[in-house]
Amino acid sequence: MKTELSQAELSLQFEYMKRVRELLAQRYDHPPLAHVHSYGCQANVAEGERIQGMLAQMGYGFTDSPDDADFILYNTCAIRKGAEDRVFGNVGALQHNKRRRPDMIIALCGCMTQQEQVAARMKRSYPHVDLVFGTHAIHRFPQMVHEVLSSQKRVFHIEETENIIAEGLPIRRDGDFKAWIPIMYGCDNFCTYCIVPYVKGRERSRRPGPILNEVRELAAKGYREFTLLGQNVNSYGKGLDEPVSFASLLRKINEIEGDFRVRFMTSHPKDCTHELIDAIAECDKLCKHIHLPVQCGSDRILKQMNRHYTLQQYRELIDYARKKIPGVSFTSDIIVGFPGETYKDFCETLALIREVEYDSLYTFIYSPREGTRAAQMEDPMPGEEKSRWFQELLETQEQIGIRHNEARVGKVLRVLAEGEAKNKSGWLTGHADNSSIVNFPADQDLIGSFVPVRITRALNWAVEGEPVL
Ligand code: 5AD
Ligand code: SF4
Repeated sequence: MKTELSQAELSLQFEYMKRVRELLAQRYDHPPLAHVHSYGCQANVAEGERIQGMLAQMGYGFTDSPDDADFILYNTCAIRKGAEDRVFGNVGALQHNKRRRPDMIIALCGCMTQQEQVAARMKRSYPHVDLVFGTHAIHRFPQMVHEVLSSQKRVFHIEETENIIAEGLPIRRDGDFKAWIPIMYGCDNFCTYCIVPYVKGRERSRRPGPILNEVRELAAKGYREFTLLGQNVNSYGKGLDEPVSFASLLRKINEIEGDFRVRFMTSHPKDCTHELIDAIAECDKLCKHIHLPVQCGSDRILKQMNRHYTLQQYRELIDYARKKIPGVSFTSDIIVGFPGETYKDFCETLALIREVEYDSLYTFIYSPREGTRAAQMEDPMPGEEKSRWFQELLETQEQIGIRHNEARVGKVLRVLAEGEAKNKSGWLTGHADNSSIVNFPADQDLIGSFVPVRITRALNWAVEGEPVL
């Protein structure tokens, strides 16, 4: 399977970036501004950074305000209906921007637009949108922008092409000490509730070489945190000319020189191996935290979800990790109200989260997605009932989270100072290696460095402490 973008195609896109720059120089007497917003997961944010990189090469500056922008791009998310509704609302509101500034360009891309029915709705009902392309066409973005600018026509590009990996395109990162590093794209798992395999295409891995180079370059520039991204990082490396395991990629990254830490997501329990857990235990730069989404605590529902593991296997992994990695913390994703789920099934989920004692949970009410298998299943449970379960889940986890935070009082945690704390002047906030949120009083100069913090107080969702300097 050919997956990498050819040198010829890459050069062609650089040529289009140059041509767009020339067109823009004729059109504007100042550098035009772009506003890029990525909805949804970190993989989308990372794609948004690549789009920004290409826009920068085309001569665009950047603005946080859509009202000042000559080019607005929304990189969309389709994971739940709520995410899509938000995008439809925000895109609708852009018609006012277009009226005020008719020569501006409005573009949409990402998981929502890869779905034919969504692209058709954009074409029909949102005439102010100039450019719509799916997840398979990102590497042709410069060519599409050129087409919009030179033809003055609306451009739609959503057909599925080969599942390409594009190395060598420019990147404009949002942060200067934390970086997202996609290591693979797509998903082959087809969990029955999930739209991702339909919109992001087949699973494919980047070669280790370009990944290691990216980390090496950024580490040399002083980056402090890398988060490796993939829908199922545990199956990284399959299908490469020289197959390599995720654990061995982690070990290679760990050898790179520099004062940085490494996170990764998402780990699918069905492919989580002892080899991987051993690597986490042995590599000093890896955070001792595993995001291991269980989704549900009922074997019956896990089967319906097509998750390919049992609770017994899941518990075995947690036990093994606890034995090998002292102090390891876990987080998880939970879906409440999958079709056919009963209160009894849900109580098994509650029992599991009490047993595992996750540090925190990402919790979702099941949202039917057109085209998935679960969307065809009988779903008789009323929404209000699911909302009650959801509330019960939040309350249960809140108690667990508070207990964990209280147990941290008196301990010293290494925290990456990430920015100013909200509503507390003179305070900074950041994540500890175990992924707890830590607030502490400190000078802004420390933003971007690791700070040891002695924890003095537990809050519901965070802890407070004093720097130990
Ligand atoms: N409804 C609710 N939650 C979903 N997720 C994925 N698809 C759906 C859906 N249709 C959740 C899963 C996944 C996380 C990223 O989003 O928990 O792990
Ligand atoms: Fe969706 Fe399952 Fe793939 Fe995750 S592993 S992206 S939940 S299909």
